[in-house]
Amino acid sequence: MARSTEEFAPAKINLFLHVGDKRADGFHELESLVVFADVGDALSFEPAQELSLALEGPFAVDLDLDADNLVLRAARALAAHAGREANAAITLAKNLPVASGIGGGSADAAAALRGLNALWALDLPRDALRAIAATLGSDVPVCVDGKSAWMEGRGERLTPATGVPGAAMVLVNPKVAVPTGKVFEALKTRRGVGAVDHAPPLRDVKSLATFLKLTGNDLQAPALSIAPVIGEVLGELSRMPGALLWRMSGSGATCFGLFEDDGAAQMAAIALSHSHPGWWVQATRIVG
Ligand code: C5P
Repeated sequence: MARSTEEFAPAKINLFLHVGDKRADGFHELESLVVFADVGDALSFEPAQELSLALEGPFAVDLDLDADNLVLRAARALAAHAGREANAAITLAKNLPVASGIGGGSADAAAALRGLNALWALDLPRDALRAIAATLGSDVPVCVDGKSAWMEGRGERLTPATGVPGAAMVLVNPKVAVPTGKVFEALKTRRGVGAVDHAPPLRDVKSLATFLKLTGNDLQAPALSIAPVIGEVLGELSRMPGALLWRMSGSGATCFGLFEDDGAAQMAAIALSHSHPGWWVQATRIVG
């Protein structure tokens, strides 16, 4: 058994998210371009007799530490797959807002699969981890690699997205938790899947924004009906100098703005933090 290990669980952003038909299993067909940021949660894994999870960080108070916790479920699912005991002392520094459309819980679960694969010296390949991830939630498989990807199906069909520029971005969450299931229930109109070019010309952030303007997030309207403050977040992002595109991620309520450069993103983050001290605001970039 390895001595101890650490994993970063980066925020996941859906640059666009199109929703298709509801499938027989109750989930909707999706089509999305998913990228990762350089902000996220941090997990550490230590050998122990039993399975435990300690929470720290600014959003730890918002997490329920019950048996249903996605990190603990990931640990148990991996142990069951490997036919071993799920024993480890896990610490999760919760830096990302909870239930916020940037995949915090999914990224944590994926990080737990990677971290425990190392701690328990299982040496399982990534596709085995992705298969276990798919049993934990629609967004968990893409978080196993944490790299830009085209996501289809319920979230399990992944194709690497090459050439996505390391664009400057600002993430804004108005500190309203929006449960994914409720947003899907409120969905009325949707674009459908299969109509997007998966090899668009992406030279730089401007061409990325031009491409994204042909797309949208079908969950934005239903999320707005549940949490109208999302409209205020988008309005504020749109008014920031250097903003090229603003949109909600996932099922919300976190929104992102793509900016001309890091300087413009940092200025916008400072301005928004001052004007809305109750909001979570982060300047970041697209990574990998
Ligand atoms: O898979 P996950 O736990 O993230 O899904 C939460 C809820 O979101 C599901 O119970 C379902 O109502 C909805 N959902 C969906 N189609 C998807 C993903 C999620 O309808 N592709």
